[in-house]
Amino acid sequence: MQYDIPHRKLGRSDLTVSVIGLGCNRIGENIHTEAEWIALLEQAADWGITLFDTATQYAGGRSQEIIGKAFGNRDDLVIATKVSPIRDDEGTRFTYESIVEGAENCLRLLRRDTIDVLQTHGSGSLEEVSNPAFADAMNHLQESGKIRLRASATFSAEGAIYAIQNGLVDLLQITYNLVDRDHAMPILPLAAEHTIALLARMPYQRGSLTGKFHPGQPVADGHRVRLQGDRLADDIAAAERFRELGDARSGGMGELAMQYVLHENRIPATIPGARSIDQVRTNIENALAKPITDEELREIERIQAAR
Ligand SMILES: NC(=O)c1ccc[n+]([C@@H]2O[C@H](COP(=O)([O-])OP(=O)(O)OC[C@H]3O[C@@H](n4cnc5c(N)ncnc54)[C@H](OP(=O)(O)O)[C@@H]3O)[C@@H](O)[C@H]2O)c1
Repeated sequence: MQYDIPHRKLGRSDLTVSVIGLGCNRIGENIHTEAEWIALLEQAADWGITLFDTATQYAGGRSQEIIGKAFGNRDDLVIATKVSPIRDDEGTRFTYESIVEGAENCLRLLRRDTIDVLQTHGSGSLEEVSNPAFADAMNHLQESGKIRLRASATFSAEGAIYAIQNGLVDLLQITYNLVDRDHAMPILPLAAEHTIALLARMPYQRGSLTGKFHPGQPVADGHRVRLQGDRLADDIAAAERFRELGDARSGGMGELAMQYVLHENRIPATIPGARSIDQVRTNIENALAKPITDEELREIERIQAAR
């Protein structure tokens, strides 16, 4: 069975992707066997997801390795991955060699001839993208056919704007959801103007926007949402303000959160993470649910403005 998931084009490229992809940061965790993870990936692709976002560092490399085993060189799927920065006494940084060698390593683990989207997995700061190593390595990899799209997974509006204005990227991965979109706002119009593709990470704010957490109630140790660190309590409180609106939909807050991201048509696709086949199915169903209404949008904007 295949879901009828809409597709959108990635910027100026000839790649189109399902509007909902799969964020693969959980793939390879030791909660499932390798065979079970491969089954999850194959099921996602069978249901019509064509975009998979992974990284060198996810599950210590296992995410890429398992995706490689599941999909290899399939050309009907778009695989986005990320190279990690060097982290040592001199700080966190990319060099020409670290990007090029990182990409070679991704190609080997993913068992692909070409990486569709190669992102640097740093902060995306101005310093990071204006370093000539970024442009030189990305251009070299693109010209040699090892990557299709040059990209940065960014948390920095300043870095993103510089990268777009200087023609350094074909795609940016940004955070965009009901409660966290500040750095995205200046990027959206500029990316549209320059036809730069955007991927929205964390549509559920790492899970807070599914409605499973409640203000004042403890979150289990080791839960991934704890990666939000000091802002977790604020995230949960911010999400709570959308509960009533979410509860009015059959799919609840998760559906509202997903539809909010998909309503922004300057962002071609979003990449929710999932740790089970059931979550993948729910996420697709959330993506195929009723679009945000004008009335919901007014209420969402009122809540966002009141924070
Ligand atoms: N620096 C970067 O480049 C960067 C940073 C963050 C994310 N990303 C990318 O963006 C993707 C998405 O981000 P994310 O995974 O951190 O956040 P997310 O998509 O907002 O949340 C995913 C988490 O929410 C929970 N969840 C997912 N579907 C659910 C459902 N249907 N019902 C209830 N809970 C559900 C799962 O956690 P539990 O079930 O354990 O609660 C899952 O791990 C990542 O996989 C990665 O590809 C990139």
